[in-house]
Amino acid sequence: MFKIHGVTPEQLDRRGFLRATTIGVCAISPLLASCAGLRYARSSRDGAEIRIDRRDVVAPGVLVDGPDGELPIYLRVLALDEFSALSMRCMHRGCQVESVGERFVCPCHGSEFAADGRVIIGPSELPLIEYRVTADDTRIVIHFDAPVARERRS
Ligand code: FES
Repeated sequence: MFKIHGVTPEQLDRRGFLRATTIGVCAISPLLASCAGLRYARSSRDGAEIRIDRRDVVAPGVLVDGPDGELPIYLRVLALDEFSALSMRCMHRGCQVESVGERFVCPCHGSEFAADGRVIIGPSELPLIEYRVTADDTRIVIHFDAPVARERRS
């Protein structure tokens, strides 16, 4: 029976499976750039907001559970009080992209995205979805009902 960290995929929900497989890949291949510093921050949801304790967010960024079983969101630290939040769902066919250095690469068909989510190489013609982020002294909030609009391709 195939198990991840002692648990079968059937015993995990989608979110748990994605988290377990991400951690598992990084345990096997710790030298992958996408695994360096990759970790999840605890978050809670309130309506259309995902709230993260600021103490859990470290540079260059952290993964946060996406809403409603969606793929994770990458919360990147841009400056002391500046953050960006990108969905890790490739806009071609929905695979989870991987963070590789300053870019995101889709393992399914090879699309590549810049750090701001714009398409560098297709087949995806749409950028990664970026969400508005606000922050105060204790909390960072991702407003997942408020995607940032921009052009389709860089
Ligand atoms: Fe990402 Fe096809 S799903 S390139």
